[in-house]
Amino acid sequence: MGTYNILLVDDEENIIKSLNRSLRKFNFNIYSATSGSEGIAVLNEYKHEGFSLIITDQRMPGMSGLDMLHEAIQIVPDAMKIMLTGHSDMHIAIDAINTGNVDYFLQKPWDDEILHGVIERLLGRYQLVIRNKQLDALVKQQNASLKKLNEELERKVRERVDQIEFQKNDLKRLNSELQDKNNSLRELYNSLEDNFVSTIQMIVKLSEQRNPALAAHSKIVSVHATEIAKKLNFAETDIFNVQLAGLLHDVGKLSLPDTLLIKNPSAMSADETDRYINHPVYGATLIRGVERLHPIASMIYSHHEHMDGTGFPLGLQGEAIPIGARIIHVCNFCDRVLNHRPWSDPAPKTTLRGYLTQMAGTLFDNDICQIYMTILTPDELETRL
Ligand SMILES: [Fe+2]
Repeated sequence: MGTYNILLVDDEENIIKSLNRSLRKFNFNIYSATSGSEGIAVLNEYKHEGFSLIITDQRMPGMSGLDMLHEAIQIVPDAMKIMLTGHSDMHIAIDAINTGNVDYFLQKPWDDEILHGVIERLLGRYQLVIRNKQLDALVKQQNASLKKLNEELERKVRERVDQIEFQKNDLKRLNSELQDKNNSLRELYNSLEDNFVSTIQMIVKLSEQRNPALAAHSKIVSVHATEIAKKLNFAETDIFNVQLAGLLHDVGKLSLPDTLLIKNPSAMSADETDRYINHPVYGATLIRGVERLHPIASMIYSHHEHMDGTGFPLGLQGEAIPIGARIIHVCNFCDRVLNHRPWSDPAPKTTLRGYLTQMAGTLFDNDICQIYMTILTPDELETRL
């Protein structure tokens, strides 16, 4: 058993001495007092050292043992309490136990063995009380730490949520700014596109004023070439470029004199022929002046090249001829055959079909001829022309 602080209170010095003797084997720190008030004074003076047990007489002059214990509870609430009583005080001791002011009572004279057993049991209970209090304090301390951690966690979560909210708003603002810039760019692009289309329309109008037949021919070539590009699954931009190339393929002819525009090529002089076969070059050179028209310059440049290399101006062969140029070449030839030209009458579709069958693969791209023949019969294009 460890060292405990014990207080003995009795107005008879002999009893104090007997108790001291009896308790010697426990090696307690024993304090003693000969009255209730002195006992309270001792407790007050040494309470910081802690008291585990108080043994007191009940019947004493001045303060009784019960009154002393009642006050002692306020000073050392965990201390165990034994009351020594005479036979006549039994009812007081029993009441005190019932009200919780005393843990045990012993009748004088006491039996040492019984006293020792009672002390050991009460000190065991005292240890339990202290241990429970320590555990209780530990639980409270851990609860407090947990509460603090929870508060810290909540604060961090709130901060993070605020941060995310801020970033979300920031992102929303940036998105809105980007949207505005996109709208501005789209408006600018639409405006440029409008200007571009206006430029093309202006060229077509100039062409119509200079030579209405040439303009009409260009429109028909454009419609047919566009249809073929669609059937070949061209991308939308490429289809649009073929459409433009169809409209502008003979723009180079505007630089030729009127007499040459209506002259049968077979009747031209060498110099005239030289100028005539260069109209794709003139056209492509003119078109290259407009950056947006660059993709169609090569189609215009090569729209009189033959698959077998007998065309002009470079005598390119097969795949070396841009596909857009091959499409326009077929459409250009077909319209010349089907519609009136200054030096010959229009031919029927059957004649054209014969030409295409004969020239596919030599002068013209075979696949494009086949596609053209599929659009030659149905009314879908006829009604548009
Ligand atoms: Fe031409």
